[in-house]
Formats: sequence, C-alpha cells, structure tokens
Amino acid sequence: MHTDEPPTGTLQGRPVPPATWDAMARLGYVPYDITAGEMHFVVGATTGCYGRVAVDAGCGLGHFSRRLRRLGYHVTGIDYSVCSLEVAGAEASGPQLRYLCADLDDGVPPGLPLHSVHLVVARTVVPFLSKPVEWLRQVRDWWLAPGGQVYLVVPIGQPPLQAGQMTPAEIDALCSGWQVKRRDQDGVAWIILRPNIP
Ligand SMILES: C[S@@+](CC[C@H](N)C(=O)[O-])C[C@H]1O[C@@H](n2cnc3c(N)ncnc32)[C@H](O)[C@@H]1O
Repeated sequence: MHTDEPPTGTLQGRPVPPATWDAMARLGYVPYDITAGEMHFVVGATTGCYGRVAVDAGCGLGHFSRRLRRLGYHVTGIDYSVCSLEVAGAEASGPQLRYLCADLDDGVPPGLPLHSVHLVVARTVVPFLSKPVEWLRQVRDWWLAPGGQVYLVVPIGQPPLQAGQMTPAEIDALCSGWQVKRRDQDGVAWIILRPNIP
C-alpha cells in the first residue's frame, strides 16, 4: 500500500441501478456537456494521444469516447447500461473505438489487458461506484500502463447531496495518495491523477 493513500472503506459511493441509466439513455440525457475549456484542460494536462490506449469508464452515450478517438486514442468505452452502449455504438464504432458492457464494481473488466491503459477517463461516474477509493486503486494497480493517468469529472456539492455529487472533503479523500492536477469550473471538478511514486 502507498503510505499516503486513504484506508479501505474511506468513501462510500451511491450506486444507481443500470435500468435508471437505460431510461436516461432513451431520453438522450447528457449530464455535463463537454466544453472547449474542458478539452483544453485535458489535452494540456495529459501526455500524448496518437496510438495510445484510453478507456472511457462509464462512457454513457459515448460523447467523450468519440472525443478521445478524434484525439487519436484507441478507445474502449465501458458501461453497464445496455441502452447507453447501443446509442454510443450507433453513433460511431470500429476497431479503434469499441464498447464493452461491464459493471465497474465487478473488478477488472473482462478482456481489458492488464497494465495497458494510458488514460482512464471517468466523467461523472466515480460517485456512483460502490467503493470509489478502491476502484481508483484497482485502476492504478491493474489498468494503468507505466506513466498512465486518470481523468475524473466530479460534480461538487454540499449535504444534502444530489445524485452524482461529492463534497469537497470526499473529493480530497478520493485524490489522496495521487499526484493531482485539478481545476474547479462551474461547480464541477476536473481532476487529472497520476500515481505517486511509492
Ligand atoms: C452520469 S453518466 C455519465 C456518462 C458519461 N461519462 C458522460 O460524461 O456523459 C454515468 C454513467 O456511468 C454508468 N455507470 C454507473 N455505474 C456504473 C457501473 N458500476 N458500471 C458501469 N457503468 C456504470 C452509467 O450507466 C452512466 O452511463
């Protein structure tokens, strides 16, 4: 264990069943639009794109997956909402933009080669996972290639929290044990994480 990471069970997520996401996908629901400012932040804070491997975890309708593909990444979008994946796949898919149905709470997704991913994205997803801190630890220990990074988007809130929000203290706990580059914009935290050198 890295010495400065939070103990197991520090943060409880607030899962929502896939059927709820299916219903939202049928309505074309997109929680947070991708702005030029966000893309500027991501591109400026990450290293390289072309031919690199990205995973869009909780990809929803695939908007950010397609952005990553346009940047040159080889992209896998993962979600457990079948309806979302159908919409995403109908927009665009191919050998370098594929979609996988898997529950992120079930460990390393089947078929994902270990230590292979240069950029793991989770846009407005981590607060919905059962154990956000443990999930990030798994990403660090099993998903990321050497030098790999994580990009999170986390809506910031105060109790009583709305679905998908985290308090500032929860976000700090989430990022503890990582090298962090963060910008808060319109109530949302854009966060780039790099593993600390143990
Ligand atoms: C708020 S939406 C965000 C979608 C997309 N990342 C975006 O930025 O538009 C959250 C997505 O995470 C997915 N999700 C939530 N929990 C999940 C889990 N345990 N496993 C896989 N996908 C999950 C939902 O199905 C939904 O598509």
